[in-house]
Amino acid sequence: MSSRFHSSYICQQCGYHSSSFLGKCPECGTWNSLVETVEESNANSLQSTAEKRKRATKIINLKDVEKEKYTRISTGLIEFDRVLGGGIVLGSLVLVSGDPGIGKSTLLTQLALNFKSLKLLKQGALYIAGEESAHQIKLRADRIKPDCDLNVLNETDVDSIIECIKQHQPSLIIIDSIQTLETLDLNSAAGSISQVRECAHRLQKIAKELHIPIFLVGHITKEGNIAGPKTLEHLVDVVLSLEGDPSSNYRILRSSKNRFGSIDEVGIFEMGESGMKEIENPSKIFLEQRMVAPGSAVSATMGGLRPLLVEVQALVTKSFLPSPRRIGLGVDNNRLQLLVAVLSKRLGLALFDADIFVNVTGGLKVLEPAADLAISLSIISSFKNKQIDPKVCFAGEVGLLGELRPVRFLEKRQKEAKKLGFNKFICSENAKSLQEVLKICFA
Ligand code: TYD
Ligand code: MG
Repeated sequence: MSSRFHSSYICQQCGYHSSSFLGKCPECGTWNSLVETVEESNANSLQSTAEKRKRATKIINLKDVEKEKYTRISTGLIEFDRVLGGGIVLGSLVLVSGDPGIGKSTLLTQLALNFKSLKLLKQGALYIAGEESAHQIKLRADRIKPDCDLNVLNETDVDSIIECIKQHQPSLIIIDSIQTLETLDLNSAAGSISQVRECAHRLQKIAKELHIPIFLVGHITKEGNIAGPKTLEHLVDVVLSLEGDPSSNYRILRSSKNRFGSIDEVGIFEMGESGMKEIENPSKIFLEQRMVAPGSAVSATMGGLRPLLVEVQALVTKSFLPSPRRIGLGVDNNRLQLLVAVLSKRLGLALFDADIFVNVTGGLKVLEPAADLAISLSIISSFKNKQIDPKVCFAGEVGLLGELRPVRFLEKRQKEAKKLGFNKFICSENAKSLQEVLKICFA
């Protein structure tokens, strides 16, 4: 540890300082709330505070502040740009999280390689790997683009990394992953909450100072917020998550925080033999392998600001369990329970002794209430063993009284359905309740 810095343990609840780790805060009594933090030695910090105070503090009127214009660079992938709000903002710190094996390293290697071929900037990207050797990265990069040239740095000490960045000034930095980095100013092990936070903080400073965008890979650990990306969310500018069903090849990139754009957009990719491919017409792909049978209904949902047509499948079978199962994949389980209760009460369906399984095909997650109608209809269709006209598309929220409620972006949804050959669109405009929908579908 350098002499200027020392570490102390600070309670995250009440701010109590301790020189050693304590399991329970003696001040407020909270367990596991003490986190190791770097502090400057007293003499130095006193001096620097005095210096800081000497500098004139200035009040700024918002009228005098020019509207900041961000310089954006394309990632070379339209779907990726869309999620970032139109490209990478110089000097931004982006956190990419996701389950292990989902394709974070693949997507970011692709980004680094694209960046090189864009030839917009003199220096290429720098891939900093603490987890994998240069050989492993080469194997992956070769799958994406054979014989590529990409600069790789195998280092875990954040201060050495920062020195290297200052020297080489790359135009993009990818760090795979933040959990492997450490600073010698702290005693705790790499991956601990204090190390992760301190390393990200130092990287953020350098990103802003040199205007270099930095992408951090953050693993979602089983423990959740301990050393997981949760601790970093407030520190970074953009939080992206790569999601998908491991058994399917489709991957969805979402943003849950974006200081430079909306968080409504999603990017859809397919993991192929040579990296991630963008999917230009997701609705068509998700409906391609559709089999028309009882239990299938198509919902017009929104993937961000883009309409997305998905197939909802349901299977209703007799249960031999004391409490029948209601299992939803890709849909909200509480919503499913609620809809089953509405169907039982308002339509008088005898679902009390039935196991109900609902699945959204393609590994997609549809959490918006507009999918209620398609979920309900797929259950009814399976229960009655009657198929729904394959040219019908649904969008509507179902209320507890069995009424249909309007949805946002109706026009966009209708347009997409029409484009894909659906000639009937059922929503709150042409049916007021579930009973009316039944009349239209099973007359
Ligand atoms: P990876 O990017 O290593 O995942 P993460 O960094 O999120 O842990 O990707 C893991 C999987 O992706 C692995 O099972 C291999 C597969 N893959 C492909 O299918 N195609 C490819 O071109 C590449 C590079 C990987
Ligand atoms: Mg990886």
